[in-house]
Amino acid sequence: MRIASVLEQETMDKKTILVVEDDPNVGESIRLLLKKRGYETLLASNGKEALPLFRQETVDLVITDLVMPKMDGIELLEEVKRLRPETEVIVISAQGTIEKAVQAIKLGAFDFIEKPINPRVISLVVERALEKQTLVLQNRDLRSKLEDKFHLKNIIGRSEKMVKIFELIQHIAPYDSSVLIVGESGTGKELIANAIHYKSPRASLPFVKVSCASLSEGIIESELFGHERGSFTGAIASRKGRFEMAHPGTLFLDEVEDIPPSTQIKLLRVLQEGEFERVGGNKTIQVNIRIIAASNRDLQEAVKNGVFREDLYYRLNVVNIKLPPLRERKEDIPFLINFFIDKFNQKYKMKVKGISQRAMNLLMDYEWSGNVRELENTIESILVIHSPEVIDLPHLPPEISEYREKPEVISIKIGTRLEEVEKELLIQTLKATKGNKRRAAELLGINVRTIHRKMEGKDEPFPA
Ligand SMILES: Nc1ncnc2c1ncn2[C@@H]1O[C@H](COP(=O)(O)OP(=O)(O)OP(=O)(O)O)[C@@H](O)[C@H]1O
Ligand SMILES: [Mg+2]
Repeated sequence: MRIASVLEQETMDKKTILVVEDDPNVGESIRLLLKKRGYETLLASNGKEALPLFRQETVDLVITDLVMPKMDGIELLEEVKRLRPETEVIVISAQGTIEKAVQAIKLGAFDFIEKPINPRVISLVVERALEKQTLVLQNRDLRSKLEDKFHLKNIIGRSEKMVKIFELIQHIAPYDSSVLIVGESGTGKELIANAIHYKSPRASLPFVKVSCASLSEGIIESELFGHERGSFTGAIASRKGRFEMAHPGTLFLDEVEDIPPSTQIKLLRVLQEGEFERVGGNKTIQVNIRIIAASNRDLQEAVKNGVFREDLYYRLNVVNIKLPPLRERKEDIPFLINFFIDKFNQKYKMKVKGISQRAMNLLMDYEWSGNVRELENTIESILVIHSPEVIDLPHLPPEISEYREKPEVISIKIGTRLEEVEKELLIQTLKATKGNKRRAAELLGINVRTIHRKMEGKDEPFPA
């Protein structure tokens, strides 16, 4: 049903074709021809005139002459592909420009047609180009719908918190806005960054990662922005930085809190204006990039302490995704365990069937300070060391089988009235069980009704 309606809509909407040709007679005749075939048309006499039209209007296809004053067809092609890579471009070649036409194909043009224009040929090529585009868009649409239906590919999570995050990702992926992902180590920040890129319209474009913490202050700028030959000792050749490599896709700035302040200001400029210079260079380079940043520390704290620029923080934090630690979503643990058993069964060609309930209980109780990464490593090493039929207590590493939640202590002054002691003990036990009265009753060796009764008179001394 859904696909049918997409198709209907596509055929109902008129496609818009931008024709760029410096010879007004040729331009006008192409335009008339396309109009007769039911297309909307826009006309420009060179690349420079065409670009603003292309930016403002929804253009589905560009047909451009190659040799034109001001901005030629090749430059226009490059600009169109940079701004909207999914737009197809058809080039017109006259005698003597075949070589240029071939170059255009290499740069991503869909096809070329030769002058003098044959109406039948141009209609055919236009139809094919639009068909290809529709197919590409539909495929993308279909694929992402199928994925959405179950989960984000390879990201497991049934807890309310994770489901909310998945919904947020579906919602924001198509936009170009910056995303800041915050979470403890091993919570899946990189996984989420990947998912956003591969769900975005930039999916088929570069996805480049920079681990800011691993770069010393001296080399981070040349790593990010590139450098020109001879700009510093050791710069024997000029080199593209990660920003140029990521263009026109997505750049993932991991551990962004480690970017030194002097570089933060340059980063801010790229975010605001999409431009920068290579180290030691004076040519301004323009890029079209989506930024996803990740941090395992609270950046707001870094802003307060003056180590992270506030303006940069706001630029990065347009969308904020906060990944909860595993201990706050224990209900995900069984699903993750099964996922990892499957994963490593495949990797090591094993046939581990599952996990016993008592082993599962211990894994659920454990604190997982290394989060999902620690859980994943644990399952992998159990499989590799024991290759058990079913994972059970003897297979668990000692830190897990011997793990007990640290005893919490309340201290009470000698001579405190018994009813005060009881009240304090009850309040603290409830705190420890996060308000779970059944569990608190179990711990205290009383029944739940007693707890209710005692709580009703909570603010007064408990009856003796
Ligand atoms: N929800 C999840 N489902 C399946 N696998 C996950 C999930 N979350 C994390 N993982 C796995 O756990 C490991 C750690 O994830 P990732 O590298 O994305 O964490 P991170 O937050 O970037 O960690 P760090 O802060 O240490 O860089 C990876 O192998 C990843 O595939
Ligand atoms: Mg990471």
